[in-house]
Amino acid sequence: MLEFYEPQADYGTPKSTSTELVTLSVDGVEVTVPEGTSVMRAAAESGVKIPRLCATDQLKSFGSCRVCLVEIEGRRGFPASCTTTVEAGMEVKTQSDEIAKLRRNVMELYISDHPLDCLTCPTNGDCELQDTAGELGLRSVRYGFEGENHLVAEKDESNPYFTFDPSKCIVCSRCVRACEEVQGTFALTIDGRGFESKVSASQAEDFMDSECVSCGACVNACPTATLTEKSIIEAGKPEHSVTTTCAYCGVGCSFKAEMKGNQVMRMTPYKDGKANEGHACVKGRFAFGYATHKDRITVPMIRDSIDDPWKEVSWEEAVTYTAKRFKDIQAQYGRTSIGAISSSRCTNEEVYLVQKMVRAGFGNNNVDTCARVCHSPTGFGLKTTLGESAGTQTFASVADADVVVVMGANPTEAHPVFGSRLKRRLREGAKLIVIDPRKIELVSSPHITADYHLPVRPGTNVTVLNALAHVVVNEGLEARDYIEERCDVPEFEKWLAFIGDERHSPENTESITGVPAADLRAAARLYATGGNGAIFYGLGVTEHSQGSTAVMGIANLAMLTGNIGRDGVGVNPLRGQNNVQGSCDMGSFPHELPGYRHISDSATRELFEGEWGVTLDSEPGLRIPNMFDAALDGDFKGLYCQGEDIAQSDPNTQHVEAALRSIECLVVQDIFLNETAKFAHVFLPGASFLEKDGTFTNAERRISRVRKAMPPLSGKADWEGTMALANALGCEMNYNHPSEIMDEIARLTPTFNGVSYERLEQLGSVQWPCNDNTPDGTPIMHIDEFVRGKGFFAMTEYVPTTERANRKFPLLLTTGRILSQYNVGAQTRRTDNSEWHGEDLLEIHPHDAEERGINHGDWVGINSRVGDTVLRANVTDRVKPGVVYTTFHHPVSGANVITTDNSDWATNCPEYKVTAVQLSKVTEPSNWQARQKSFDKQQQGLLEEARH
Ligand code: SF4
Ligand code: SF4
Ligand code: SF4
Ligand code: FES
Repeated sequence: MLEFYEPQADYGTPKSTSTELVTLSVDGVEVTVPEGTSVMRAAAESGVKIPRLCATDQLKSFGSCRVCLVEIEGRRGFPASCTTTVEAGMEVKTQSDEIAKLRRNVMELYISDHPLDCLTCPTNGDCELQDTAGELGLRSVRYGFEGENHLVAEKDESNPYFTFDPSKCIVCSRCVRACEEVQGTFALTIDGRGFESKVSASQAEDFMDSECVSCGACVNACPTATLTEKSIIEAGKPEHSVTTTCAYCGVGCSFKAEMKGNQVMRMTPYKDGKANEGHACVKGRFAFGYATHKDRITVPMIRDSIDDPWKEVSWEEAVTYTAKRFKDIQAQYGRTSIGAISSSRCTNEEVYLVQKMVRAGFGNNNVDTCARVCHSPTGFGLKTTLGESAGTQTFASVADADVVVVMGANPTEAHPVFGSRLKRRLREGAKLIVIDPRKIELVSSPHITADYHLPVRPGTNVTVLNALAHVVVNEGLEARDYIEERCDVPEFEKWLAFIGDERHSPENTESITGVPAADLRAAARLYATGGNGAIFYGLGVTEHSQGSTAVMGIANLAMLTGNIGRDGVGVNPLRGQNNVQGSCDMGSFPHELPGYRHISDSATRELFEGEWGVTLDSEPGLRIPNMFDAALDGDFKGLYCQGEDIAQSDPNTQHVEAALRSIECLVVQDIFLNETAKFAHVFLPGASFLEKDGTFTNAERRISRVRKAMPPLSGKADWEGTMALANALGCEMNYNHPSEIMDEIARLTPTFNGVSYERLEQLGSVQWPCNDNTPDGTPIMHIDEFVRGKGFFAMTEYVPTTERANRKFPLLLTTGRILSQYNVGAQTRRTDNSEWHGEDLLEIHPHDAEERGINHGDWVGINSRVGDTVLRANVTDRVKPGVVYTTFHHPVSGANVITTDNSDWATNCPEYKVTAVQLSKVTEPSNWQARQKSFDKQQQGLLEEARH
C-alpha cells in the first residue's frame, strides 16, 4: 500500500500495559486510558498534541525540556505532562496564555543556541524542533546569538550511514536513552554539565570507533537534524512510504521503506511491527544499498558451457531454452535426473511455486531448501517431541521469562533486535545461562553478566543437555504434575531410567564437555527452579552430527521442567535467514508437502493432486547432499537453484564444485552472479525484496507482508520467473498476484486455512496456525496439550562425532555470523557494512597462538581432513583454548573448503560447527584460494563480454 510520507504517529510516552482504566478530562473532553498512562499520552489519545522535545513514545519519560507543561485543576504550578500520570477525575488544561508564554520562554533558550539554517537543513520539514517552534508561535528570540554557543561544533561523519552534527543538538538525551533502553548498548552519554553538556560516544570517540553498533535507534529518536541518515542529507525528505518486512534475519522486523519515486531514501523501523516494535539493526535499517548495486544482473543469460561467454536473451528465450534442456535431460537420464533448490530468502509464495513446479512439473520430489543446512534438525526434533516443527512462543513473551537459556546462538550479533529485547529483560533481573564454546557478548556486556556460561566443547551439546536433565531428575526438580498431565508417561518412565544413569552426571561428563560440573549443576537448578524458563537456540545446536538429538534434548528439558505452553517459557529456534520458517512450512523438503505432511500420505497427495491436476510421486526425492552425490555419480544432471549460493554456503566446497561442474544444465535465479552462478548455464535475474509482493514467516511463525516498493529491475518478480519456467515446461500456472498463490496455500494447508492477504491487512501479521479455530493466529503453541497429543521424551544417547581432534588436527574449528555480516555476504558485501569487517578472520586463543608462533594479524594456514585455506589471525580470549572460530562471509576465505561432509544423522544438516584442524603460520594463500581467484576472474570476464 503506497502512503504519502509522514512521520509515524508519536504519543509522547510508552503505552501502559495496565488493564485498569482511568477516566479524566483533557481540555474539557473526557478520555479513558489505562492506569499508568501519562497526561501527555492521554491528551494525544484524545486528539490533543501537547508540544514536547525530550519525550517520545519509544522511551520512558524523562522530563528535562519543560516544553510540555500543562495546568491540572487543584495542583500548584505547571507540571510536565510527560512525567505526570493520569488520575481518575483529573482535569487537565493544555492551553492558556500563561502556558503558552512559559513554553515560548523555554523554546527561546533552545533556539538561541541553534543554527537557524532551516531552509538548508537536511531535516527541513521533518524536524520536531522546527515543528514545536511553529506550534508555539515563536516569532523572535530575545537573547541573540552573540554569547557563547555551540554553532561551530564539528560534525562526526565517521559512521557510513549517519552523521552527528552537534551544532544542532539540544541535549534532550533522547539518543542516549534510546541507546540504553531500546538497543541496550550504552554507547552514548551526556558529558559535562550545564552549558558544557554534550553527547559523547563511548570515551568521546568517533561513532565509528566507539561501542556503537549502528542500530539507528538514536537517529530515530533525535528530534533535530543532529543525528541524520546520510541518505536523507544527500537526497532530501522521502515523499511516500511502503510498509514491508526485512529480508535479512529470522526476526522479521517491519519497516517503512521511505521512498522518493523508485529510490529508497531510508528504511525506518515500523512501530506497529510486532516482531520489532520500532527497533532495527544495522542490516535492515541501513544495509539496503545492495538492491540497486551496480553488480545487479537484470537480463536473463544463457550459455552452453561454463567456459563460454554469457549471452543476454529475453525471458522467453531463457525459459524456453531451460525447459528444452531439462526435458532433454529427463528423456536421456530419467524423470528423477533433475531437481530444484528453493530459497529461504524468497517469499512463501515463491517457495511454494518452486516445490509445486518440481512435484507437478518435473514429476519427482527432488526439491530441497537451504534450511537443510541450518534448521532441518529443528523441524525433525520439535516435530518428534512436541508435534510441530516450529518455535513455541512470541519474541515478546521473553518479557515474562525469569531464566533464559541461550544455547548455540548469539542473538546480539545474529538476531540483534531480539537480542535487544532479551537484554532489556535481563537488565530487569531475569537470569541468564549461556551454553556456547565462545564468550558471546551476552556473557558479559554493559549491565549484563550471564549467571552461568557453560563453555561446551564443540560436538558435545547432547552430553551437556543430558547432564542438565540428569541433575533435574536426580535432585527431584522435575515438574511431575505437568509431565503426568501433558506427556506420554510410559515413554517418560523409559527416558527417566536412561537419563538417571550416573554416566550422565555432570561429574562424569565434565571431561567430555569441558564444562565444570559445579557450574552445570547450578545452571540446571536455576533453570528448573527459577520460575519461567525460556530456551533460545541457534545453529550452534543444529549444525552437528547430532543436531536433531540436541533439539530433542532441549525439548525434553523444557517438558521436564514444565516450561512449554505459556508466556515467558518455551523452546525457541532462532532462525538464520528471513524466511527459513516459511520455506520449511511451504513444503520445500523432498519428503513433505506444505504443512509438514509426508509425501507418502495418500490422502494428502490426493488433495494436492486434485488441485494441481497431476499424479504425484509418493517417494521422497533427493536432499541437497544427495543431489551432489548423484551428480557426481552421473545420475543427476539438471538443477534449478533459486536465491541460494550453494557453492559458498554448503560444506566441503571442493566436493560441491565438482558436483556443480558435472551438472549439464544448472539454472541459477539470483540478483548477483554468485559463486554458484559461475557454474551455471542459465542465469535468471532475481528480484530483491523491495521489488515484489509476498509474505515472509519469521522465527515466531509470524507471517508478515512483503510489499513492492519499486518495480522488479528485470521486469519479473521471482514468482513470475518460476511461473514462466513452469509454463514452458508444460506445468500450467496462471497467477495474477501472489495473493492468489497464498489463497491456494490456505486451501490446501490446515495450519494456513485462515491466512489471506485481506486478513494480513486487518491484523498486520499473523502467527500460524491460523484457521477456523484460531482466526487471529496462535502466538503461543501447546497451551493445553501438545500438538502431537502427549509430549514425547525422546532418547538422546550421546554419540560422539567422528570428527575429533587428534595429534594431527588438534583444534576444533567452529563457524558463525557477526552483526554487520549476513550469511555468505552476497547482500552485505555490497553495502557499507564492509567497513566493519572487510575480511573473515580466524579467532584463536592467545595460548594456542603462542604455541604456534602466531601473532595477531598473521596469515594462518588452516588444514582439515578435507582441505585447507588461509585466513588472518585474530588473537582473542573470546574463544577458549583448543577452539578456533571464523565467519564465512567472503568467497575467497574458503571457510567451507575445510568443513567436512559429516552431517546430522536424521536430516543431513552439515556439521559446520565441528571441524578438526591444525594451524600454521604461512605467507601466501592456499592453492584453492589461488584457483578461486582465477576462476572468479575468468567468470567475471565472461559476464563482462555479455554485458558489452
Ligand atoms: S546507532 Fe544504536 S548503538 Fe549506535 S549510538 Fe545510536 S542507539 Fe547506540
Ligand atoms: S543528538 Fe539529538 S537526541 Fe541526542 S541529545 Fe542531541 S538533539 Fe537530543
Ligand atoms: S534484526 Fe534481523 S530482521 Fe530485524 S532489522 Fe536486523 S536483520 Fe532485519
Ligand atoms: S517533553 Fe515533557 S519535559 Fe520534555
